[in-house]
Amino acid sequence: AELPIRVSTGSLPGWEAVERLVLDAHRDALAVSDGVVADYIPRLAQVDPELFGVSVAEVDGAVHTAGDAHVAFSIQSISKAFVYALVCEELGHTAVRERVGVNNTGLAFNSVVAIELNGGHPMNPMVNAGAIATTALVPAASPEERWGRIQDGLSAFAGRRLELDGEVYTSEADTNQRNRAIGTLLEAYGRIDTDPLAAVDVYTRQCSLLVTAADLAVMGATLADGGVNPVTGDRVVSASVARDTLAVLASTGLYERSGEWLFEIGLPGKSGVAGGIVTVSPGKGGIGVFSPRLDSAGNSVRGQRATRYLSRALGLDVF
Ligand code: DON
Repeated sequence: AELPIRVSTGSLPGWEAVERLVLDAHRDALAVSDGVVADYIPRLAQVDPELFGVSVAEVDGAVHTAGDAHVAFSIQSISKAFVYALVCEELGHTAVRERVGVNNTGLAFNSVVAIELNGGHPMNPMVNAGAIATTALVPAASPEERWGRIQDGLSAFAGRRLELDGEVYTSEADTNQRNRAIGTLLEAYGRIDTDPLAAVDVYTRQCSLLVTAADLAVMGATLADGGVNPVTGDRVVSASVARDTLAVLASTGLYERSGEWLFEIGLPGKSGVAGGIVTVSPGKGGIGVFSPRLDSAGNSVRGQRATRYLSRALGLDVF
């Protein structure tokens, strides 16, 4: 039976109740085996489709896990949210809004048509066009320096050093003609000031960083905590940047399904094609899930179900 949506409460229930509900959410969604593993990046197709991890990190630093919450997978599009936050921190709200935009395209994450329909504007930082434009905005004298800043920044969100999956990177770099086309099209429209193919390469590396569901929960909790990582105590971005990032995720984090996601779950989130989803409950905590089978928009089926369960059971819905 479907859990009812509970009115948001001021704080999470006690440690033991959260621990139990994370296990319940995992058990509930484990019964679902719909969806298909992404195969347009060949290396992703080789993953065990049964893997399933769930984690909640609270803003007081408590981390709860169930199932395969410590199994590493590539972060993919979820990186877009955190690179966006790093760029907002450097360039500010107005400049990033003008350059990259904040509106949903209503089209798939890798759509070229969306760029053409909008006069070359990348529209938002969560689709590939906007993410490549955002990566190109990370201030750096070289692509290597840009990559280093992104790896350091995402590691600060996670509270541990994140490493590249070389096989996923090579597999995507060999097959990402569409992203290279998107980068070059943005250059043709004057929307990228650096070498677009170098920007696509750094973007491909950021997507290949390895995380776990528990890492995603902590990364989400850092945004929930106004930019301070609740496990390490380090400030990663300002409170206003954390807020701006969450506003963009609410409208664009699940692509053309963002409206349905907000309607069902009532929280900002971001998905990736390896099967991860991060979700943020401002002031309360982050949810990280991982299960490789995806729906037709590229969002983890079990991950969405477990997140909906937790949003409802923990009273996280912001509305
Ligand atoms: O650029 C790509 O296609 C991948 N590196 C990331 C796409 C992705 O994760 C879409 N998400 N659901």
